[in-house]
Amino acid sequence: MEVETPKKIIKFEWLTTYECNLACQGCKVIKMGDVIKPKPFDIKKYEEGLDNLYYFADANFGAFYGAEPTMLGKKNLGDLVELLTKYSKDGKTNTIITNGVILNGDHDYQQYLLDRGMDSITCSVDVIGTDDYDVSSTRKSHTGLELLDSMKQKGIRDTCGVVTMTGANLQYIPDVVQEIHDRGHWVGFDVLHYDQKNGNDMFSSGPSKLSDIMLSRLDRSQIAEVADRLIEMKSNGVRLFPPVSYFEMLKNPKYSVDLNWKCGDGDFPHCITVSPDYRLHPCDCQIGKYTNDFTVFDLPKRWDEYVEAHFKSSAECESGCFWSTHFLACEMVKDYTKDKSDYYSHKEKNGK
Ligand SMILES: C[S@@+](CC[C@H](N)C(=O)[O-])C[C@H]1O[C@@H](n2cnc3c(N)ncnc32)[C@H](O)[C@@H]1O
Ligand code: SF4
Ligand code: SF4
Repeated sequence: MEVETPKKIIKFEWLTTYECNLACQGCKVIKMGDVIKPKPFDIKKYEEGLDNLYYFADANFGAFYGAEPTMLGKKNLGDLVELLTKYSKDGKTNTIITNGVILNGDHDYQQYLLDRGMDSITCSVDVIGTDDYDVSSTRKSHTGLELLDSMKQKGIRDTCGVVTMTGANLQYIPDVVQEIHDRGHWVGFDVLHYDQKNGNDMFSSGPSKLSDIMLSRLDRSQIAEVADRLIEMKSNGVRLFPPVSYFEMLKNPKYSVDLNWKCGDGDFPHCITVSPDYRLHPCDCQIGKYTNDFTVFDLPKRWDEYVEAHFKSSAECESGCFWSTHFLACEMVKDYTKDKSDYYSHKEKNGK
């Protein structure tokens, strides 16, 4: 297959707000508002930033989340959804990731977003079939799944449920994945991310301790069983989004438990994250030490300078991670071909 000239980025993530109506155990993003002061939502600024990301940086895909994007309010979210159709017309794709609490059951609101052109929705589904789990995660798992069903029924093109694996939901994961698939949705997957080296205060939201849900090396055989099961399910046609190589590596506790994977291996940045003050970071939980000085509006005039700052920031990332979305984008950066770029939007099914 012909390898095309690498472009500037594979994808971007845009954190629209740090506000949320839940407090999931382990979520760091809701605490980022203490560190970064969000700027007011401004659709004109979004358009300028998105022109830079989709057209100047040539991203194919953008994920919009936050904390919780519905906290922007109906009009702002609707304006954003409508703006995104400008890029969809050029084959550029997106998804909006939500906990579903505000949208689920509100059929007028769901239809309003569809009428404004919503193409893809992603919801978190961490656990089903038990009440013995983090209260917020359990709630969003139910609202998220119902919302995905409802949006699919109303005709949205793409629906996806994302499962975040922790030390407390391991046993439920194959059933949760199967259920999301059986209901007709794609399935995303990630491992709980925390920062073992610098303490975990930022990751300790919600009523229980982070240590209650962290993965440990004692979980390694169960993690390997889950990974094997997911590989088997994927080979049997379950629409699991991460590549098989990710699940193979998941069996190694160096990645799944110690989070000892690092991004930044490639010729160009794999992903850029925009925070609610329009500044740029290597990912949603790293405040880039060197990228802090850049906004999304600076990209065309300061691109080379930005790339240097981006790689320096990720090289000095102390926590490491094993985010599947960053892993996949880094793999694509190393071996970029055009048809793989549609994998994020679930238009291309065979990304390896
Ligand atoms: C930060 S949330 C924002 C969108 C929306 N509020 C939601 O929960 O779906 C995006 C995704 O990150 C996941 N997440 C939150 N904290 C995490 C952590 N410490 N490690 C890995 N994933 C995490 C959530 O479960 C969710 O799937
Ligand atoms: S993971 Fe939970 S607390 Fe964090 S933004 Fe999503 S719903 Fe809110
Ligand atoms: S390794 Fe890269 S993607 Fe992972 S936490 Fe660090 S900067 Fe973010």
